Amino acid sequence: MNTLIWAVVPYTCLAVFVAGHVWRWRRDQFGWTTHTSQLLESRLLRLGSPLFHLGAFGVIAGHAMGLLVPASWTHALGVSEHTYHVVSVTGGVITGLMLVTGLALLIARRFVNGRVRRVTTTMDKVLYAALAAMVVLGMSGTVVINLFGEGYDYRESLAVWFRQIFYFQPDPSLMADAPLVFQLHAIGGFLFMALWPFTRLVHVWSAPLAYLWRPYVVYRGRRGPAPAPQPAPADVRTVSPAPRPERPTVKA
Ligand code: HEM
Repeated sequence: MNTLIWAVVPYTCLAVFVAGHVWRWRRDQFGWTTHTSQLLESRLLRLGSPLFHLGAFGVIAGHAMGLLVPASWTHALGVSEHTYHVVSVTGGVITGLMLVTGLALLIARRFVNGRVRRVTTTMDKVLYAALAAMVVLGMSGTVVINLFGEGYDYRESLAVWFRQIFYFQPDPSLMADAPLVFQLHAIGGFLFMALWPFTRLVHVWSAPLAYLWRPYVVYRGRRGPAPAPQPAPADVRTVSPAPRPERPTVKA
């Protein structure tokens, strides 16, 4: 059972993640977008979207640091276990709260605004439910267990198992004794990846990142000096309307 959950499921999800993206690209390039509903409602979106996205960037950076960087590396750099814990919990709580607040606003506007509700698809609802579940589980691990609880050193177990998956030697026993919240969050993370290609999350791979440092839209490029205004073509200037034919006068 351990092998099924901690080895077979992750690889199956990763395979669905890759094959799903290929399928979606070939079947639905016109649907490969954010499906923005900004024109239908912008008040809640203006606050919810930046909070959600900034929180998500922070949480992704935290995951990269916590899961991909081995504890031995931070020890070698002289970072004590206590310092690491303070930084990761503080960063996790701040970015996690931004993500939770942003997500709550995005979900709320789907309920309270009739026009947004009408364009919300079943897949959107599945995605929001999955995001909410992942965020609640993640925050429970960080806040309930690592901030106020007995603590769980995920860098010596969960993170090691996570990295092993990518070099094809996962040891399921590393996850067997993890707290249930972390077990659900970790396996949920892989299920989330399997869901990814079938949702609007595909827009992540075509985000116009160049506009981060060039925040204006170029409608027309200018090569060299602007061309001098051209005179209108001769036939347009000289052609005058043809004279009307004289009306025949009818004599009584
Ligand atoms: C297989 C994939 C994933 C793994 C192994 C994983 C692992 C973890 C771990 C170990 C923590 C605790 C960090 C700490 O206490 O310092 C955590 C927290 C968290 N996770 Fe994940 N996670 C995964 C995917 C996701 C996904 C897909 C989401 C959101 C959609 C997510 C959202 C969060 C949030 C909001 C927190 C709390 C804030 C934080 O500490 O960063 N995680 N995750």
